[in-house]
Amino acid sequence: MIEIYEDTSLTPIKVAKMSGYLDWSSQPSMFKRYPHFLFRYKYGEKEVLRVVELSRMITSRTTIGAKPYNQLSVPSAGNLHPIELYVQIRGLKGVLSGLYHVDAGESEIVLIREIASDGVEPYVGLSKRLSGMIFIVSVVPFRSQWKYGERSLRYCYLDMGHQVGAIGASLKLHERHMTILSDFDQTVLNEFMGFKGEEFVGAVLSCGELGDKNVKTFKQNVMHVSPTDYSELDGTVVNNIAKSEILKSDVFQLSCSLSETDILNRRSTRFFDSDGLSKNKLESLMKLLHIHSYPISSYSVVLRDNHMKAGIYLDNKLIKEGMFAENMIGLLLDQSFIKYADVITVITSKYFSANKLIQAGVLVHNFYMEAEVAKYGFSGIGAFYDKKLQSFLGIDDYILYISAVGEEKK
Ligand SMILES: Cc1cc2nc3c(=O)[nH]c(=O)nc-3n(C[C@H](O)[C@H](O)[C@H](O)COP(=O)(O)O)c2cc1C
Repeated sequence: MIEIYEDTSLTPIKVAKMSGYLDWSSQPSMFKRYPHFLFRYKYGEKEVLRVVELSRMITSRTTIGAKPYNQLSVPSAGNLHPIELYVQIRGLKGVLSGLYHVDAGESEIVLIREIASDGVEPYVGLSKRLSGMIFIVSVVPFRSQWKYGERSLRYCYLDMGHQVGAIGASLKLHERHMTILSDFDQTVLNEFMGFKGEEFVGAVLSCGELGDKNVKTFKQNVMHVSPTDYSELDGTVVNNIAKSEILKSDVFQLSCSLSETDILNRRSTRFFDSDGLSKNKLESLMKLLHIHSYPISSYSVVLRDNHMKAGIYLDNKLIKEGMFAENMIGLLLDQSFIKYADVITVITSKYFSANKLIQAGVLVHNFYMEAEVAKYGFSGIGAFYDKKLQSFLGIDDYILYISAVGEEKK
């Protein structure tokens, strides 16, 4: 994976090459559609399915240049959403037991396979029937590769982490527990799901109780449906995704309690207020952002001298004093909207892998939710000059993901 870090790193030359004209009318479709003849539940039709709906739903609809522009309960690099979500439901009162596709685009939960004594359990490492839900999160690389080329591999896994975080947030709201399943052959699951090399499983989560009844494999795979209206897959990205591991380690837990409105209102902040955060808010924020859970750490760059000294903090200790707003803007590809943020957090890791990127995505999703609850302005940032930022911080650790936090401009 170290070569992948190098190959997917951004440098000024690569960015200059990539920043050519992009024809948005050629954007691949963002939502997978299973055929109309399949049985489906509309969002809102069954209260017990709310936990699934909140995990992935459109929460804002506008148009840009006559094209619909939808934003979801999950953020996504460039709002491209290279993720699909499936859920097996067994034994939920009033709901047909089966494997469903969560079609956020149409606000429908579509039955793609009925289950009885068979089920996805054997494909995800379970030998007994699970009463409850098994979520399968997949990645559709072309949706992101179309715009971001090789860098898209990172965004696919960070987005995957956000999707896992969004499921975790919805389960937490509904007082349910989430377990990560990873002890199975992902190629068999990809084949069963009918993905045919355009889509790949990246995380599997369960919520429910294992019974004592055995479960059989299916006689037939799920039908193949293309996740995009067309694709021109780049061999490197798709090969690296095909070879990568899925989420296998524990993820950071969301520590705040939240409401449904917090999930529905989550947005990335586009403008920060130049007045900045109050002292209290800044102090609570620094505690929230402080993560040191080997092998993941976070560096916080405090951009202004308002209530604490500006500079780089690790473990809540100032390790380098200075006003670094202009440096950070440059290191983040001239994203000048961060100028009035209070803190830029850089999440780093001793190792670089798909698993670590997904973990970082979950962590930042939790930050998004905490920011919504505590009323901070917040945005995930995946575009940065990797090597330059490493040398600016004086570290060899890999940089996984960045966040900007401050007071949102009203
Ligand atoms: C992995 C990832 C990387 C992102 N990188 C950036 C970035 O570099 N700059 C930025 O302004 N926003 C970034 N965003 C925020 C997205 O632009 C935002 O999620 C998207 O436009 C959808 O808007 P929403 O989050 O309000 O739903 C990123 C989001 C994710 C999930």
